[in-house]
Amino acid sequence: MKIIRSATHFGSSKKASLEICRQVLIKKDSVLGFATGSSPMEIYKYLIQYYKEGLVTFKQVTAFNLDEYVGIEKTHPNSYAYFMKDNLFSHIDIDINKCNIENGLADDLEKECENYEKAIDSAGGIDLQILGIGTNGHIGFNEPSDKISAKTHIVKLTQSTIDSNSKYFSDMQMPTKAITMGIASIMKAKKIILIASGKEKAQAIYDSVYGEITPKMPASILRLHPDVSVYVDDEAGKFII
Ligand code: PGA
Repeated sequence: MKIIRSATHFGSSKKASLEICRQVLIKKDSVLGFATGSSPMEIYKYLIQYYKEGLVTFKQVTAFNLDEYVGIEKTHPNSYAYFMKDNLFSHIDIDINKCNIENGLADDLEKECENYEKAIDSAGGIDLQILGIGTNGHIGFNEPSDKISAKTHIVKLTQSTIDSNSKYFSDMQMPTKAITMGIASIMKAKKIILIASGKEKAQAIYDSVYGEITPKMPASILRLHPDVSVYVDDEAGKFII
């Protein structure tokens, strides 16, 4: 794991966004794995800025998102589909037909998981995956567990995740289930960047970087991947350097 520490989250986000631009400049039809949540939002602002300045185009990029809540309309402001449109896709020249996200309203959720995994493989796999990290060490919605769920699957969210995310739900109860890419779906990406900021993430970052490699701390498994860059600000990195 390469640890890249910056004084501020803006610094981390800028460096991470440049790594993403480099990927797209080298391979115009890159397959990018996107994440939602507060962690990558500044990265997306930088990507929008670079696009508007004419430094990068996303015209040929294919996107796959990590996860989506079960039982929520794509048009609902709390859906991750909406988040991606609002925070990135509608501000850049990406082809919206090439932006994939799990359908949390599918009649057959198991089939939806299977099809999503197949779609990633048929696109040639993910070139660069962006990740945040939960305070409990989750990546995507791969929650701490005794076993690894490898492929895209349905997950019951832990109380810690519900406590962290329920503040965003004002007009409906936060869903308790989600569809998420699995640990192997993430580990198959050629390159991974993880971004974390704030003291709430410091313990999860420390445990992921120095602790036991275990599905009980899902992000620790990333240490088995050959190309992972972890971007932390001073607060999230306070125990590691
Ligand atoms: P956050 O969530 O970026 O909103 O802190 C990260 C995550 O839960 O993966």
